[in-house]
Amino acid sequence: MRLRALHMRFDARDLGFQRFDPFLQFLDREGVEILPAELGQRILRFVGEEIVEIHGPKLTRCLCKSISRSAVSSAIPETMKAVVAPQPDGAEELSVVERPVPKPGRGEVLVRVAAAGVNRPDVLQRRGLYPPPPGAPDILGLEIAGEIVDSGDLAQAFVGQRVCALVAGGGYAGYCVAPAGTCLPIPVGLSMVEAAAIPETLFTVWSNLFERGFAADGDTVLVHGGTSGIGTMAVALGRLFGLTVIVTCGTDSKCRRAEALGADSAINYQTQDFVEAVKDLTEGKGVQVVLDMVGGDYVPRNLACLADDGRHVSIAFQRGAKSEIVIPDLMRRRLTLTGSTLRPRSVEFKTMVADEIARTVWPYVESGRLRPVIDSTFPLSEAGKAHARMEAGDHVGKIVLELLK
Ligand SMILES: NC(=O)c1ccc[n+]([C@@H]2O[C@H](COP(=O)([O-])OP(=O)(O)OC[C@H]3O[C@@H](n4cnc5c(N)ncnc54)[C@H](OP(=O)(O)O)[C@@H]3O)[C@@H](O)[C@H]2O)c1
Repeated sequence: MRLRALHMRFDARDLGFQRFDPFLQFLDREGVEILPAELGQRILRFVGEEIVEIHGPKLTRCLCKSISRSAVSSAIPETMKAVVAPQPDGAEELSVVERPVPKPGRGEVLVRVAAAGVNRPDVLQRRGLYPPPPGAPDILGLEIAGEIVDSGDLAQAFVGQRVCALVAGGGYAGYCVAPAGTCLPIPVGLSMVEAAAIPETLFTVWSNLFERGFAADGDTVLVHGGTSGIGTMAVALGRLFGLTVIVTCGTDSKCRRAEALGADSAINYQTQDFVEAVKDLTEGKGVQVVLDMVGGDYVPRNLACLADDGRHVSIAFQRGAKSEIVIPDLMRRRLTLTGSTLRPRSVEFKTMVADEIARTVWPYVESGRLRPVIDSTFPLSEAGKAHARMEAGDHVGKIVLELLK
């Protein structure tokens, strides 16, 4: 079939490539068109041997074709600085060590890290409470932003592209391997620090509040930790997707900050009973979804905040792993209890979330309507100070390590 003569264009799915192949998902979300470079041959074999022609406006801008593999590889050093937590207990235990630069495998890219987000799970990992999943590096860090400098296979075409990525570990380092499928392109106008502050909270809030909790336009939701990295992302997404967002915070000043950032109402959980406050705010109706990072004795109180058919989504249990619930109440009001933890999920799952985010949320990032809230930045050598700031609990939004200015 003379494809070029027919002026036909296909995307990855039209050509029948494996669904959720991370690399092809990345191409797809970039809006890159693919067509066979040679006629009459089998496409799948071509992909494996790089006999595809890839073109699209975003790629030509990144000048990737002018960079040869050998030129890029020779610019990559053998070793890099990385932050590990050799022993549990105390931010001072974080060490900056010299490690070999990792090698990307199939479907992976090597990113020269310009900035890495700091998340509460990093603090838990440092304290020995959240070990990396099998296969993940012991280097801390779940999200990065930087430039692709190498790849294990076909993603070579993307060398030079600025991306942010969700990773299962390894972010606090000069270089980090990321699955091509969890990379998102950094639009013009978004800084590396801002980009690095997005993936972990965006993937978590999207997959829990919207996918597991089915939050939809017109719903009212309760989000604890209104000024946390997660909370500020939930507030921002809530505004974009037509939710009324009620948050809780531990001080009046945090409540005011949360409201200034877009929360519809903020409840000081230290001075108010949030169950009563939610009842008042919703005129007794309750909320459709609770996004809970507190657990323990909060769970029955959260359930009391839910309207009939409401959904309770657990993403952490800072006040305890066990809760007592009244089963007949669940049955009578048809409540749903669910939850998830992102880090140990498969690359295929994370790729699927990235793909959905690329279609539904990324246009808001590109247009500047979604920006993360940045609390502070620290150099890599001061990762311990960044953790101490998070543990002090005075931050609002995201703390980020900046490796390249
Ligand atoms: N399941 C997942 O896949 C996943 C992924 C990422 C993060 N997480 C979890 O999500 C949580 C937030 O992460 P982050 O990185 O955004 O951390 P963070 O910025 O440090 O936020 C922690 C938040 O917890 C709030 N909090 C603590 N005790 C509370 C209580 N009794 N009532 C209400 N709020 C309370 C704090 O609020 P105040 O400061 O106002 O007290 C603070 O805003 C963490 O627990 C983390 O482990 C889960």
